[in-house]
Amino acid sequence: MMIPKRQFDCLVIGAGGAGLRAALQVSSADIQVAVVSKVFPTRSHTVAAQGGVNAALGNVLPDHWHWHMYDTVKGGDYLGDQDAIEYMCRAAGRLVIELEHYGVPFSRLDNGRIYQRRFGGQSQNFGGEQAARTCAAADRTGHAILHALYQQNLKAKTHFFNEYFAIELLRDREGYTLGALVLEIETGEPLIIEAKTTLLATGGAGRMFRTSTNALVNTGDGMAMALRAGIPLQDMEFVQFHPTGIAGIGILITEGARGEGGYLINDRGERFMERYAPKAKDLASRDVVSRAIHVEVQEGRGCGKNKDHVLLKLDQLGDALIRERLPGIRETAIRFAHVDPAKDPIPVYPTAHYFMGGIPTNRHGQVVVPVGHGPEEPQLGLYAIGECACVSIHGANRLGGNSLLDIIVFGHAAGEHVIEYLRDNPYHRPFRPEIAEPGIARLERWDRTDEGEPVSAIGDELRVVMERYCGVFRTQEVLDEGKARVTTLRERLAHARLSDRSRVFNTARIEALELENLIEVAYATVASAAARTESRGAHSRVDYPVRDDTRWLKHSLFYRDRQQVDYKPVRTRPLTVDPFPPKERSY
Ligand code: FUM
Repeated sequence: MMIPKRQFDCLVIGAGGAGLRAALQVSSADIQVAVVSKVFPTRSHTVAAQGGVNAALGNVLPDHWHWHMYDTVKGGDYLGDQDAIEYMCRAAGRLVIELEHYGVPFSRLDNGRIYQRRFGGQSQNFGGEQAARTCAAADRTGHAILHALYQQNLKAKTHFFNEYFAIELLRDREGYTLGALVLEIETGEPLIIEAKTTLLATGGAGRMFRTSTNALVNTGDGMAMALRAGIPLQDMEFVQFHPTGIAGIGILITEGARGEGGYLINDRGERFMERYAPKAKDLASRDVVSRAIHVEVQEGRGCGKNKDHVLLKLDQLGDALIRERLPGIRETAIRFAHVDPAKDPIPVYPTAHYFMGGIPTNRHGQVVVPVGHGPEEPQLGLYAIGECACVSIHGANRLGGNSLLDIIVFGHAAGEHVIEYLRDNPYHRPFRPEIAEPGIARLERWDRTDEGEPVSAIGDELRVVMERYCGVFRTQEVLDEGKARVTTLRERLAHARLSDRSRVFNTARIEALELENLIEVAYATVASAAARTESRGAHSRVDYPVRDDTRWLKHSLFYRDRQQVDYKPVRTRPLTVDPFPPKERSY
């Protein structure tokens, strides 16, 4: 098959905030950048981020990057790499102000400074009073950032391949990444994009769960491409369940609603978070609040006729404040929960939200893999940033407002590193067409099938399996069953047919390719969870309820070829300050 080819210096796969921030850095240095996105860029999932981006600007309450660092290390239950966390918290202020200069319309205080709201897990002075660190553009911060970055990229002449789906990385025998095989969704035509550097910025895999805050596009495409290229996934057992999804459907109600003064109640009207987190209450970290809601419901204090959710009470904020600071939430609550939050509480329940784990990288965004039992080595020409990556700054549980920060800081850092790498590696490497063959075989597999069960049935089942067997609370028995069920689903997918081949061929083909990706990543998730026999951050094992720093203060690495989990040490040494040693985590 003769496949057309285009050449660029840098290929970015994914047009969310991480991809666009990196692309902007590189394009601004007059380097040729192509961005491939399976949706129009401003429809990428960053657009859905609501509450804001963390930076210790101290506009509302006193703050310092070092306090932010402490909160992030503690929030991640001490699994985060402290060098990367220090780097991120120090860079935050400068890069948020830069966003303001790019045109992000942040909400304002009366003195004209950027408005900052209280978010979960934030403290002043290393665990003292609540901080207010989250810079917000009402409750549409991600939307504002994504649009500003897209416009800046147009100005910088970044080349966009919109509605192209990345199928496979192209790598040579020496281990250099030479670009990717992609598919133009409209025509079904494959295209090789050859590049000296490739950045994966494809977001998370939240669509493997039935109720999720994630957009339909979040199918783990970059994570799965990395797995197939022999790269392990790190810390996949740590999946964040956001405490406040609209009950039953999972749509996000921002933590900013609690930051503005909203609180959770059970069927008795009790403000139950006072029992679980006496100091931080509703602004404890997300893993703590999600578990508390789960326990309230399990113990019979849930609300509604099925007693299967709790309520988020906002009416005390008043209609005017809700309209000013939470306009999107008001609209979402009216439309999807059929309640006006100025009058009635919103029914909520934890919903899959974010993967702390992903493709292992260093703080320059370079993909790094341990070699044998030796140190990690960069995979030449390959970078990963944003939710598909694991730097790891979020450790075992991410703090709200740190994901928008992650994409800005490490998008920028990876962009800078690409510029440096291209200075030393100015030429395209020899390209042998056969390196595209595995990707072409993936495509052709979906040309041949007329028989079997439809892909959509397997996708529906996967989402139920992951919710039931890899949810908020876990046991060995349940996780092992989850592994077995995902394995069966993977075998069934190998013999499945497109859901609707006759009418919407490419849509159906993309659905199949996405499900292949999701299943790879789902297995990595449930297998990593089954292997970690302790409770830490978002990974709550009923059968191993205690954090075990002696045995488990280490990152997991799931390898596809062995279908097995390995481990590597946590980087506990920051860059310039003293480490925060693990201690008991309470809020
Ligand atoms: O609740 C939220 O607004 C989500 C923010 C985040 O995940 O960082």
